[in-house]
Amino acid sequence: MTKTPWYEKYKTVEELEAHVSQCVCNGNGYFRVNVLPNHRFFGKAIQCMCKRKQIISERARHFRLASGMTDAQLERWRLGLWQPTKIKVPQGKDREATVAQARKLLSLCKRYAKNPKGWLILSGPYGTGKSHLGFGIASELVLSERSAYAATMPNMLDMLRNSYQTDSYQVTLMRLRDTPLIVLDDIGVERPSGWVAEVTYSIMDYRYTENLPTVLTTNQRVSGDQPPGSGIDGRLWSRMQEHVIVNLPWGDYRTRDR
Ligand SMILES: Nc1ncnc2c1ncn2[C@@H]1O[C@H](COP(=O)(O)OP(=O)(O)O)[C@@H](O)[C@H]1O
Ligand SMILES: [Mg+2]
Ligand SMILES: [Zn+2]
Repeated sequence: MTKTPWYEKYKTVEELEAHVSQCVCNGNGYFRVNVLPNHRFFGKAIQCMCKRKQIISERARHFRLASGMTDAQLERWRLGLWQPTKIKVPQGKDREATVAQARKLLSLCKRYAKNPKGWLILSGPYGTGKSHLGFGIASELVLSERSAYAATMPNMLDMLRNSYQTDSYQVTLMRLRDTPLIVLDDIGVERPSGWVAEVTYSIMDYRYTENLPTVLTTNQRVSGDQPPGSGIDGRLWSRMQEHVIVNLPWGDYRTRDR
């Protein structure tokens, strides 16, 4: 008695493809099974698992490239690497309570990365971990093959300026406006002027009106009247006040007691 060929238990090409567990294509990416003309698989090019893996990694690559972050950055800023117990507790503050606050913030960021909704503003002095958490949110999305763009404000502005020279300006602008998540780090450090200011504002205004997921970090305390000399657009400042603002009330990570 002849043995039933391995592919016979599958009804469709899709089902068969899903069960190819080793490379059987000799590097072609596709293979055929040797069957008679009336067979359901006759003449069909069947995708090999090596091809499927390649497509998956190209897809992942697409998300990484569009993110504005390098592979090294994506790894370095993972949310899992941010440790609530490692924050610098300011003198005179209760350690347990401060660490508990940090823990809460980390879970909030993790939840936001799973299901980004609305705007999230992280405000605090240097070294409190704002960039890590902001980029970390984008990183979690990108590594699970969802679209996100993250950059410092100056880098985003550079990208816009460069796109202006290469005629891809409109495309770049639309992409920034519509990306499912944008993270802008350190806003207000550089005061944009002229068309850059207008363009930045138009992106933010659109995202505000459509309530699109947006994470902003700043070392300015975003409450009440805008301090003089702040690099944040006045119109943006007032819109930021309407969103979830988290103040990071601890100290510089780099000066903590280990
Ligand atoms: N709680 C933490 N656990 C681990 N690393 C941290 C923590 N807070 C800050 N860091 C690290 O300290 C450095 C400064 O943090 P960063 O996010 O750049 O601060 P900020 O943007 O608020 O100035 C980064 O390398 C970051 O990874
Ligand atoms: Mg920072
Ligand atoms: Zn193969």
